Amino acid sequence: MHDLAIRGGTAVLGGVVVRCDIGITGGRIATIAERIAEAARVVDADGLLVLPGGVDSHCHVEEPFPEGGFQEESWESASRSAFAGGTTTLVAHTPQFKGGMLMEQHRAARARAARGMIDHGFHQIIADPSGAAMAEIPALVADGVGSLKAFLTYDALHLDDAGFLQVLQAARRHGLMVHVHCENYDAINLATRALLAAGHVAPKYHAVSRPPVVEREATHRAIALAELVGQPIQVFHVSCAEVAEEIARAQARGVPVKGETCPQYLVLTAEDMDRPGFEGAKFMCSPAPRAAADHEGVWSMIRRGVLDVVTSDHCGFSFEGTRGKGKNGRDAGFDAIPNGIPGLAARLPLLFSEGVSKGRIDLVAFAKLVAENPARIARLYPRKGVIAVGSDADLVLWDAGRRVTITNDLMQHAIDYTPYEGMEVTGWPAMTIRRGEVVMQDGVVTAEPGSGEWLPR
Ligand code: URP
Ligand code: ZN
Ligand code: ZN
Ligand code: ZN
Repeated sequence: MHDLAIRGGTAVLGGVVVRCDIGITGGRIATIAERIAEAARVVDADGLLVLPGGVDSHCHVEEPFPEGGFQEESWESASRSAFAGGTTTLVAHTPQFKGGMLMEQHRAARARAARGMIDHGFHQIIADPSGAAMAEIPALVADGVGSLKAFLTYDALHLDDAGFLQVLQAARRHGLMVHVHCENYDAINLATRALLAAGHVAPKYHAVSRPPVVEREATHRAIALAELVGQPIQVFHVSCAEVAEEIARAQARGVPVKGETCPQYLVLTAEDMDRPGFEGAKFMCSPAPRAAADHEGVWSMIRRGVLDVVTSDHCGFSFEGTRGKGKNGRDAGFDAIPNGIPGLAARLPLLFSEGVSKGRIDLVAFAKLVAENPARIARLYPRKGVIAVGSDADLVLWDAGRRVTITNDLMQHAIDYTPYEGMEVTGWPAMTIRRGEVVMQDGVVTAEPGSGEWLPR
């Protein structure tokens, strides 16, 4: 007898879509069959899609800042938001501060994440690859960290070519994946200084300071250096087709490089940062949202498979309050506004609505983009990211026809706004199941704090 049976739904099982029942025992998928007769609990999924729970392999949760304090989004609120949006696994980031060590931060990050409800792993940021900290990488690997994160921009984090090469070499030595934020630090600084000197301080100048060429150049360079070292990389948050083209060219040569994009590059634009007053700050993230005409270019790169993962890059700063977008004052220049937007709960609904409901991609492609491919890259597949016998019973029951207008309340995060406020989507999660436990039903999250598991990768 199964603990739980999901009966009569239309399930995405890897490459096929079939009407079937799913039987769950001990938190895992035990049976996939036309009919499962007996179970302690039965969920009627008639009329619903049954999808693998979303795997969000790029997000920022409760990260500490070098100047002290933490991001507003706690592991508990992030878990709630993720479950509300049909996501059941997060891979977030552990920082390294310049001159700092790794293991102490890693242990502290694990302790914070253990207070949440969602299963999780970490990318280890390397901001200072020359010092003693690198000797701690074997300990990190032993504890299940499967990837390093390199930033080619941001004052506190950016690596020059020598530093990035060191990260690539370390990853190669220890068999780790490298994820890269690709933007040219010096080019952004030059443009930023010129804009500020000319009095151009408003949020919209964020996009002007970091045009696509800045991202394209760094992407090209990151790929070339990775090719030189022979280290696989994934380029994070690709914003437009001209950047993805660099990845496509390398893939055609056989270079192991992957590309990720995010919903913000499919629905937001640089013009959103030109809203009255300080409003534009709500849409500020890096890379910057591009032109509306760029959205179809990103879709075509998704359909070509050049970009095969869609994550949120959730990095929330509230609009109000001393830790938020205005923490340096609303008259401060655009360069003093923290980068990042919240998006944990909106990721699946936006991608489903823009992708599946509007006929740009099919259901199988959708499940691969939001669950299977991120799970593979994060080395969590087939435990996560797929509906298959033996996999964790992480499922989302999806109401494909439900029309919802996005509001901040529906996001259930700790941030006081959503950049997607007022957008109408078709398709919404009705129920989220994590390891066989119903953790969200009709928007109500019921999971116990502390129930999320560490995922060694
Ligand atoms: O603006 C962004 N994306 N903030 C989050 C950190 C990062 O760059 O991924
Ligand atoms: Zn980034
Ligand atoms: Zn970013
Ligand atoms: Zn990020």
